[in-house]
Amino acid sequence: MNFINVENLSKHFGQFRALNDINFSVAAGRSMAIIGPNGSGKTTLVRCLLGLLAPSEGTADIAGLPYDPRHPSRVGYLPEERGNFQRDTPLDVIRLFGKLRGLSHSDATSQAYDYLDEVALTAQARVPIQTLSNGQQQKIHLGVTFIGNPDLLVLDEPTRGFDPINQAIFKTFLQRQLREGTTLILVTNQMHEVEELTDHVLFLRNGDQYFVGEVEDARQKLGGRRTVLTYTGELPAKAQQWELKALEKGTVLMDSQHELRSANQMLQQLLSAGVNVTDFNTRLSSLDEIFVGVYGETGQFGDLN
Ligand SMILES: Nc1ncnc2c1ncn2[C@@H]1O[C@H](COP(=O)(O)OP(=O)(O)OP(=O)(O)O)[C@@H](O)[C@H]1O
Ligand SMILES: [Mg+2]
Repeated sequence: MNFINVENLSKHFGQFRALNDINFSVAAGRSMAIIGPNGSGKTTLVRCLLGLLAPSEGTADIAGLPYDPRHPSRVGYLPEERGNFQRDTPLDVIRLFGKLRGLSHSDATSQAYDYLDEVALTAQARVPIQTLSNGQQQKIHLGVTFIGNPDLLVLDEPTRGFDPINQAIFKTFLQRQLREGTTLILVTNQMHEVEELTDHVLFLRNGDQYFVGEVEDARQKLGGRRTVLTYTGELPAKAQQWELKALEKGTVLMDSQHELRSANQMLQQLLSAGVNVTDFNTRLSSLDEIFVGVYGETGQFGDLN
């Protein structure tokens, strides 16, 4: 069953169309990344999903219902703006959210301490949050998000401003949560997070849904292959049938959008065209390359069709 169902969702602010006809679903226990440049509508989409903004058209349901605070599903939401509870202590705030998700006072207390211990903040458990460093405060916000094992995590750019150590801690926590069956919506522009944490991806462009599907499908359909060919001598005229970009003398890059021919066939064609191949390296595009292709100025991979 689909846990999240978004159908024909549009959101207008006056004349401005922030989201246009968004459609996707996420099954329980699966994960979806929402990708897009600044202003493409990512935060607006998660706010519509969590009932913080009313859709102009269409629906956004969690477990079959529009979300409101009385919703039966437990949700851990890490919003884009994270300035609250500055005067409270980490222990009080994490425990409060644990209790809001149904934990007893003593369970919430012990889980809060376990978390603070894991992220090396036990000594700061009882100091005001405003006295902590930026990275330490981010760990507290994540603790608030994770405590009580929510059914659904909605994280809006959770690692923005994290140093590499905090990024690794975050990943470990999230992976543990995913193994326990939590459903995840992750707003991010960090492609390594998409590779390691989510199985589906939604690319937004100016409020439009540019692509939605499995990460592997995005790699196949949006990226194609990156093949680097090194050769000696001259390339025969016949080689012009491939789009070649010279990298340096004797080395060319052969980008092939939507080209799912096997590396084997490609190499055979090069050889039978008389190319004197000395090195041949082919792989699917990385998600970083796809991001540049979809959003970069050159738009080198063009449209889907
Ligand atoms: N309450 C609002 N009133 C008017 N316009 C809004 C409102 N909220 C968002 N917008 C506009 O909608 C567009 C999408 O904003 P949104 O915050 O969803 O983008 P985003 O993809 O999350 O960007 P970022 O990467 O910067 O966080 C922007 O042009 C923004 O100015
Ligand atoms: Mg945003």
